[in-house]
Amino acid sequence: MPDTSKPTRNIALSDTMLASAHNVQAVSAGKSLSDSLAATPPALRASAQAVSFHVMRRLGLVRAIRGIMVRRTPPNPLFDALLLVSLALLDAAIEHADADAGGPELRHTPVYAVHTVVDQAVRAASGVPRMRSYKALLNATLRGYIRERSAILAQLREDPVALHNHPQWWIERLRQAYPGQWRAILAAADVPGPMTLRVNIRRSSVDGMLRELEAAGMPAAHVGGEAITLLHPRPVQEIPGFEQGWWSVQDAAAQQAAMLLPLAPGMRVLDACAAPGGKTAHILERADVELVALDNDAARLERIGQNLRRLGLDGPSVTLACADAADPEAWWDGRGFDAVLADVPCTGSGVVRRHPDIRWLRRDADLGKTAALQRRIADALWGVLKPGGHLLYATCSIFPQEGEQQAQGFCSRHADALRLPAPGQMLPLPDGMGSHDGFFYALFAKKG
Ligand SMILES: C[S@@+](CC[C@H](N)C(=O)[O-])C[C@H]1O[C@@H](n2cnc3c(N)ncnc32)[C@H](O)[C@@H]1O
Repeated sequence: MPDTSKPTRNIALSDTMLASAHNVQAVSAGKSLSDSLAATPPALRASAQAVSFHVMRRLGLVRAIRGIMVRRTPPNPLFDALLLVSLALLDAAIEHADADAGGPELRHTPVYAVHTVVDQAVRAASGVPRMRSYKALLNATLRGYIRERSAILAQLREDPVALHNHPQWWIERLRQAYPGQWRAILAAADVPGPMTLRVNIRRSSVDGMLRELEAAGMPAAHVGGEAITLLHPRPVQEIPGFEQGWWSVQDAAAQQAAMLLPLAPGMRVLDACAAPGGKTAHILERADVELVALDNDAARLERIGQNLRRLGLDGPSVTLACADAADPEAWWDGRGFDAVLADVPCTGSGVVRRHPDIRWLRRDADLGKTAALQRRIADALWGVLKPGGHLLYATCSIFPQEGEQQAQGFCSRHADALRLPAPGQMLPLPDGMGSHDGFFYALFAKKG
């Protein structure tokens, strides 16, 4: 979901705050923000997305502030979530007021006036019968924060979770893996990713698309391959050519997959963890191949079909199958593949700037389980690859346990695997229009 939403001024902030509180409550209960936003009333979705994303990017801080200011958290999870939403907006409002007075400039943050946040928070609580009794507590907490902000932030100066807005285990893992870059990586998760398009070269061209964007008044730059980054994200329907299948939204790092996999006409290609089909479509745009796309999630598999139809890429050379990639006996017909893409399930730690809830949903223990599944899938797929064929291992993670350690382990388990040059770990650091998500790629050839 591109981060194109802006708070809409003609929607009552109290309604947006309440909708955002429902989203924050859902994430605290372990549900994904995308799923929760899908259930938000359509009129409120854009503004609730902007506010909920902001809260996710400040959740470590506002939970710590709440811990200092409210001695006993009220046993009403919706109220607690509304308190966190209110504190996140209030902190941005005060920071913004300070910026007007020469403080740091705030970007990518929904900003309202300080008194508006307090009034609208109390109004949001008034609208829900089971929250009315907490109105006084909410009002007092917010007004107290306005008075005591400097002292409270001073108390939190040594609290890494409040400072970096990621869980402690996550911070620790990045600190160990990237001693010189961990702070910059964590800070980059605060900045929404750019909107990058992948031009469908069967229906358009990079130059043609750049001209269309220029004519539509949308400044953009070619950032390599088929990738074009817009200076300012826009809703997809406003960009020329979406229905006509001229392009798809896809991060520049994700676009590397189809470029790294050696492809030639007539090859038999397996995209083993394919849904929703971003890389499947890119492969089919670049080469006339016979392709099998697998995913073990039937609902997500359906989205591959929808995407291929919009792009004009569906046809008899493409087979979609719902199956476990780690269990080829259940789906493989015994004919070897020339190329296999293993875009394995992962923690998603490289795409936190686009899905800011991920950091709060994952647990340290998930990493070991995910790495074990990745290992099983990659090992099983090696068996369906022809001698002389290539397997590209990919994850949108920045944890070495899912990347470099997997690649090294794979080589040590498969004597017939030759590791070829590939980008390895790509870090999601700021790079202007060239900025990309965190990704890992390792390419292996099967000795013939
Ligand atoms: C990183 S996503 C793939 C993204 C996709 N390649 C794209 O570019 O649009 C990983 C996918 O693996 C699927 N998956 C998870 N476990 C699987 C398994 N055992 N076998 C096949 N697919 C699996 C998930 O449903 C998810 O769609």
